[in-house]
Amino acid sequence: GITRNFSNSTSLNAIKTVTVVGGGLMGSGIAQVAAQAGQNVTIIDLKPESLEKAEKSIQNNLNRVARKAYKDDPAKIEAFVKEASDRIKVSTKIEDGVNVDLIVEAIVERLDVKQELFNKLDQLCPEHTILASNTSSISINEIGAGIKRKDRFGGLHFFNPVPVMRLLEVIKGDHISEETYQTMMAWGKSVGKTCITCKDTPGFVVNRLLGPYSAEALRMYERGDASSRDIDTAMKLGAGYPMGPLELADFTGLDNKKSILAVMLEKTSNPVFRQVTIINKLVSEGKYGRKSGEGIYKYNN
Ligand code: 3HC
Repeated sequence: GITRNFSNSTSLNAIKTVTVVGGGLMGSGIAQVAAQAGQNVTIIDLKPESLEKAEKSIQNNLNRVARKAYKDDPAKIEAFVKEASDRIKVSTKIEDGVNVDLIVEAIVERLDVKQELFNKLDQLCPEHTILASNTSSISINEIGAGIKRKDRFGGLHFFNPVPVMRLLEVIKGDHISEETYQTMMAWGKSVGKTCITCKDTPGFVVNRLLGPYSAEALRMYERGDASSRDIDTAMKLGAGYPMGPLELADFTGLDNKKSILAVMLEKTSNPVFRQVTIINKLVSEGKYGRKSGEGIYKYNN
C-alpha cells in the first residue's frame, strides 16, 4: 500500500501514545480502551487518590472484558489484564504526559478550567500532538479559543460505561483540519468504537436528544403520572432501551444532569431544557444517584 507521510504531523492511523487528563469515570474508561487497543497510555490527575481509584477500576473492568472474551481460560484472562494494565502509567504532573500523539481531556465540566489546561498543553506539547476534549456540553470552539494549534484540536465524546458503549462522537471545531479529523476517526475505530461526526452544537447528538427525554421523565415522576419503576419499565419494554430514563439519570449522576440542563438551556433557550425541581432537590441533599448511594433509587454501594 501507499504510506502517507505528513511532515510535522501525525499520519493517519498513527496514534500510538495517548495521554488522558482526568482520572475519573470517563478518563479511566478512555485510558482502558486505548490500552486494550495496544496503545501506551498515561493518565494525569492532580490527586494521587483519584489515580489510585482509576487504576483499581480499570483493573476491575479489564477483568470483566477479559472474562467475557476468554471465558474458560484463566491464563489468557490474566495475560490480557496484565498486558493492558502494563501499558498504563499514571502521574500527577502534566509534564509527564505531554510527549504523545494524542491528549484526551476528561476533567471537570468548567470552561475556565478546561481553557487553562488546553492553553498549557498547547505550550508544552510537541507540534504534532492532537488535543481533544471529552466535554459533553461545553462548546469545543470556546474551549480551544486560546490555543494556537486550532487545526489539531477537536472533540472526542465518549459514553458511560466507556468500555461497553460502542459510540464515539467526533466533534469538528471551526478550524479542525481534514487530516486531524481523519486521524480522530481512525483512532476511534482503533479503540473499538463506531464514530459519528457532529458540528460543535450544544449537546452534540446524544445529549441534545437524551436531555429533553430524561428531563420529561423526571417531570412525569415529579407529577406522579406513574411510579419510577413503571416509567423505567415502560421505556425498557416499550421502546427497547437498556435502562429506563430514571435509572439512567441515577447512573450518569443527577449532579451532571443538572449542570448539562443548565448549559443546554443557556445555549439553546429551548424550554425543554428548563430546570427540573426534583433534580435540584435531590442534588441539594447530596443525592447524586448511584455514585452517592441514593438518587431516585437507593443503592447498596
Ligand atoms: N466495563 C466493562 N464491562 C462492563 C462494564 C464496565 N464498566 N459495565 C458493564 N459491563 C459489561 C458486563 O460485564 C456485562 O457483560 P456480559 O454481557 O458478558 O455479562 C455487560 O456489560 C452488561 O452489563 P450488566 O449485565 O452488568 O448490566 P446491563 O445488562 O444492565 O448493562 C449497561 C449495563 C451496559 C450499562 C446497560 O444498562 C446500558 O447500556 N445502559 C445505558 C447506558 C447509557 O445510555 N449510557 C450513555 C449515558 S449518556 C453519556 O454517557 C454521555 C455523557 O456525556 C454523560
